[in-house]
Amino acid sequence: MLVVFIRPYKKSDIDQVIAVYKSAFAEPPWDEFKKCSACEVEYGIKESARARDICKKCDSPLELIDFWSSEDIIQDLEFALSQQNKAVLVAENSAGIAGFTWGYKLPFEKFPFLEGKISPGTLYMDEIAVRGDRRLRGAGTRLGQAFLKSAKAQGLEEAALRTDERNPASIALFRKLGFKEMGINDPGFPNRVYMRVKT
Ligand SMILES: CC(C)(COP(=O)(O)OP(=O)(O)OC[C@H]1O[C@@H](n2cnc3c(N)ncnc32)[C@H](O)[C@@H]1OP(=O)(O)O)[C@@H](O)C(=O)NCCC(=O)NCCS
Ligand SMILES: [Zn+2]
Repeated sequence: MLVVFIRPYKKSDIDQVIAVYKSAFAEPPWDEFKKCSACEVEYGIKESARARDICKKCDSPLELIDFWSSEDIIQDLEFALSQQNKAVLVAENSAGIAGFTWGYKLPFEKFPFLEGKISPGTLYMDEIAVRGDRRLRGAGTRLGQAFLKSAKAQGLEEAALRTDERNPASIALFRKLGFKEMGINDPGFPNRVYMRVKT
C-alpha cells in the first residue's frame, strides 16, 4: 500500500501533473508519446525510437512532436476547473504527486449517444492516472473513491467514464470501484468501453 493523501488540485501542482500525464499516456495501449506533425498519428515510445524518415500513415517526411503538449493538458485541466460541478484531485506523498483525476458533469453535447441511458446528474471522469513507478499500490483506488465521494457530495447520483478494452489496468481499477460496462458502441471507436456506477 502506498501511503497517499488525496486533496484538491492546486495551481502549483501543474508541472508534476503534466509530467505524470505525459508519461502515463505514453505507454500501451495508449502509446500517446509522440505524433506525426502532419497527420497526428500516434507513435509509442519504442516505435518513436525506430521510426524512419517517412510517416507510417501519411507518407510525408516525419517530424515527431509530443503527442500531448503541456498546453493541451493545461487546457483540459482548465476546462474541468471552470465547470460548476467538478472533481479535480491529486494523490500526493512525501515524494510528490503520484497521480491525479479530474472530471465534470457529463456534457451530453459531447456524448449524444448517452442521452437517455444515464442520469442527467452524472459526474464524468475525464482522466485518471498514476505515475508508472507508483502503480499497483492503491493510489488509483484512493483517487477513484475520492472522485465518487465528491460526486455524491455534489448531489450527482452517477459517475461515468470511458476507457479502452485493451487496458487491463484501468478496467480492473474501475470494476473494483463498482463501475459496470454500459454496452455502448462509440461510433468510430470500437475499442472504447463506457462504464457507469451509482455514487
Ligand atoms: C489505471 C491506473 C490509474 C491504476 O492505478 P493504480 O494506482 O495502479 O491502481 P490500484 O493500485 O489502486 O489498483 C486497482 C485495482 O486494479 C488492479 N490492477 C491495476 N493495474 C493492473 C494491471 N496492470 N493488470 C491487472 N490488474 C491491475 C489492481 O490489482 C487493483 O485490484 P486489487 O486491489 O483487487 O488487487 C494506472 O494503471 C495508470 O495510470 N494507467 C495509465 C493511465 C490510464 O490508463 N488511465 C486510465 C484511462 S481511462
Ligand atoms: Zn503522418
